[in-house]
Amino acid sequence: MSTKTASQHSIVLGVSGGIAAYKAAELVRLLTDRGHQVQVVMTDSAQRFVGPLTFASLTGRKVITNLFGETDSEIRDSSIEHIDVAQRSDLLLVAPATADILAKFAHGIADDFLTTMHLAYTGPVVVAPAMNTNMWRHPATQSNVAQLAARGVTIVEPDAGDLACGMVGPGRLADLEQIVETAEGALEGRTRTDDLASETVLITAGPTQEAIDPVRFIANRSSGRMGYALAREARERGARVVLVSGPVALTPPNGCEVIPVETAEQMHRAVLERLSESTIFAAVAAVADYRPRAAAPTKLKKHGEPPPLELEPTPDILLEVGRLKGGRIVIGFAAETNDVLENARAKLAAKNCDLIVANPVGSDTSDTGFGSSLNQGWLVDSTGEATELPSMSKREMSARILDKVVHLRKAVESSRSSR
Ligand code: C5P
Repeated sequence: MSTKTASQHSIVLGVSGGIAAYKAAELVRLLTDRGHQVQVVMTDSAQRFVGPLTFASLTGRKVITNLFGETDSEIRDSSIEHIDVAQRSDLLLVAPATADILAKFAHGIADDFLTTMHLAYTGPVVVAPAMNTNMWRHPATQSNVAQLAARGVTIVEPDAGDLACGMVGPGRLADLEQIVETAEGALEGRTRTDDLASETVLITAGPTQEAIDPVRFIANRSSGRMGYALAREARERGARVVLVSGPVALTPPNGCEVIPVETAEQMHRAVLERLSESTIFAAVAAVADYRPRAAAPTKLKKHGEPPPLELEPTPDILLEVGRLKGGRIVIGFAAETNDVLENARAKLAAKNCDLIVANPVGSDTSDTGFGSSLNQGWLVDSTGEATELPSMSKREMSARILDKVVHLRKAVESSRSSR
């Protein structure tokens, strides 16, 4: 399903030659789903990994593959095409960016369409490198990346993990959602600040799993995306981040400490262990409210009457943190099917929160909320005031939440200094 966002842009996606080039096809889909117009430019070596037809089919546009056209008229047209494309687009995004492209961009080499356009381009540039770990770590690459960053290019750092070459380490193309969010941040001219540099943010994310027997559990539809987006945003704004995460299929954001847990009880324990070092607590996890009173020691068999499932409450982590609050800023989330604002205000008071992010959930909000990369709702503060958050990326919503946190922090500080 196509989900349009408020601001749609024209993006040039440069695809350079690496095994991750195939992932650029999915990236195109994510960008076009969000309403952006994508013009793909491929380097020669990228075309050895993926055919231009793939991208032409996905974008509905001819892919630019070389600097000089093959026919006379193409030669005439393409001689100014790179200037024209550069002038028409709002963002130059290169994913995957090979060591070669990073070197060429850093040194101003212009020997094909992408590198020539890069020099002719005056707008924001985002690069998502992907390569073998040793190539990434090589001082030459690192110095090229540092030069590009110093010049204002946004780098979407590669993830660590198993690489196609068989090595383990940093070099894998970053999570595609992260690339999209960074690209949209660059389009909106969001400049990174360090306004959370003095904060330690403790975040719970994802679902919990409560065992019924050794192979079955009670869980929920939470994907963990909201909590991970908040962690990433807080980290990029300079905070130290501890992310207590239920089981999710997401790559942890760079630079965050991740504590993996399965059950509400484990999440509760991890939060209490790390609470004293935190200055901000955000309960984003969809914690099970009830768990089976006792998990069966062996797999339940299907014979006779269905076994009774006796439940007991799990610890309410947010409620407990609210009680132990001290000078912390405490943020809760409330997914509600009805009376969204009323329930959110009641929850804020009951759990002693400073902020509640209220999300309507239900069949008419299937594009947002659980599992989606988008979210919508209201930001309710302790005065009861509610600010509407229209449909936006979870990353953007995280930025809005943290803006509010910074605002609250400043208000506390100024009331303290005026006393
Ligand atoms: O009460 P309800 O579950 O709707 O509240 C949702 C908020 O409380 C979320 O922020 C969630 O992370 C948090 N919560 C918690 N521990 C629980 C249940 C909910 O921290 N056991």
